[in-house]
Amino acid sequence: MSTPSIVRTNTAELYDSYVMKNYARPALTLVRGKGVSVWDDTGKEYLDFTSGVAVAALGHCHPVWVEAIRRQAGELIHVSNLFRHPNQGELARRIVQHAGPGRVFFCNSGAEANEGLIKLARLHGMKKAGEEGKCIKIICAKHAFHGRTFGGMSATPQEKIQKGFRPLVPGFAFGEINNLQSFADLVDADTAAIFVETVQGEGGVNPCTDEFLWGLRNLCDQHNLLLMLDEVQCGLGRSG
Ligand SMILES: Cc1ncc(COP(=O)(O)O)c(C=O)c1O
Repeated sequence: MSTPSIVRTNTAELYDSYVMKNYARPALTLVRGKGVSVWDDTGKEYLDFTSGVAVAALGHCHPVWVEAIRRQAGELIHVSNLFRHPNQGELARRIVQHAGPGRVFFCNSGAEANEGLIKLARLHGMKKAGEEGKCIKIICAKHAFHGRTFGGMSATPQEKIQKGFRPLVPGFAFGEINNLQSFADLVDADTAAIFVETVQGEGGVNPCTDEFLWGLRNLCDQHNLLLMLDEVQCGLGRSG
């Protein structure tokens, strides 16, 4: 079992003095992880039921994963999007193989992925209307969470997320998940897309039914809308 490279005794003080207080953190300093476990700076072990808030979906520090990261760090640390890298093309191929026909946009966070979707909806709306700025409405769900960028916050109808940051991006409307009619009622000539989490995470664990999702698919086909799914927290297709 390897020891962590840095164990500081003054972490709480450092956070207090230098780290922005945008999160209320429990008094816990985590220094090491393995599989489903993490350890704090006193050596106490915890089971990580959050998987690092869904980021460490394969568990912590699997030796195959660690070796791949080490090898790549020693070969080539970064290639900008101006150039190709063989692994990116191969990863895109594998994702498409599993997810279905299409292309992959690689980015750095869930919020950035959602910004990409919102931009795709704008492009789709422009194509539909034949003019920029006309068909920009995106129908999202009440209790949704789509991230903390301006587009993401605007798609997230929660006071605790939006408070202090208005005016937000215009053009968002909100239906009730598993109530197809509430989405259908909001569709009009200005609508470009429907955007939902297949399983709402931050709003409570609220899964969409198959029937509702197929209903949204049909509604989108009927009105030439994009159906956009945020699977950042529920596992990028792993829920089926
Ligand atoms: C459903 C959902 N969408 C988007 C995000 C934002 O992802 P990120 O924190 O990587 O920007 C989250 C983060 O928890 C999320 O749960």
